[in-house]
Amino acid sequence: MSASNSIVWEKILRKGAEANLYEGYWFGKKVIFKHRIKKDYRENILDSIIRAKRTINEGRALIKVKEEGINVPQVYELDTENALIIMKYIEGQKLKDLMPKLANSEKIPLFYNVGKQIATLHINGHIHGDITTSNIIITEEKQVFLIDFGLHEYSDSIEDKSVDLHLFKRVLISTHGKDFKPCFNAFLEGYQSEYKLLENDDSKLIIKNISAIERRGRYVKRDEKEFG
Ligand SMILES: Nc1ncnc2c1ncn2[C@@H]1O[C@H](COP(=O)(O)OP(=O)(O)O)[C@@H](O)[C@H]1O
Ligand SMILES: [Mg+2]
Repeated sequence: MSASNSIVWEKILRKGAEANLYEGYWFGKKVIFKHRIKKDYRENILDSIIRAKRTINEGRALIKVKEEGINVPQVYELDTENALIIMKYIEGQKLKDLMPKLANSEKIPLFYNVGKQIATLHINGHIHGDITTSNIIITEEKQVFLIDFGLHEYSDSIEDKSVDLHLFKRVLISTHGKDFKPCFNAFLEGYQSEYKLLENDDSKLIIKNISAIERRGRYVKRDEKEFG
């Protein structure tokens, strides 16, 4: 088999704001091609630099996080020149699509496990930046995989970790409102269970700070009303 037909772009999965996602094959392995696309409003050279930077940022984060034992797709190729990541295709369903098919009793252990994965991420100094139920894939064996590290950052600050959790809370309220309470509580329990194993358990501070962020959000809204 020649190298050229060992890489097969089979079909488009999604046209995103920033990247197009294709599924296909890479030397016999089922893969995802995440290809950051050119934005016409950006000048050519600047555009290539931005796409290369974001590709490196996401690819490196995936590689680092995987080394630390977190379930993320393995990166097979990181091609900055073409703004392309070739990664393992995770067989499963997005948590968002799975939710309506699950019994309540199945949701709780799943969210507990999501909480454990996010805690491990935070303990190792990573902020995901976009924790949503579309960026979590659940396999047939109910394993939790995190994807989409396009907004990943390194940080050890309580505030950044709270912001990560706050975003997830808002997603749950807006997308899965009727399940929000039990699912978010299970998520927080799983999150805390990982922190409890450490000498310095910051999880209480991180979780408490979510309310502070929410209060600030409300003040901003009120100020906007008063002065806007
Ligand atoms: N490694 C993967 N395995 C299986 N499906 C994936 C994988 N990566 C992405 N996808 C699918 O493509 C969609 C978009 O990918 P994502 O990285 O989240 O890009 P976007 O920035 O457009 O949200 C995901 O919601 C998921 O359905
Ligand atoms: Mg996504």
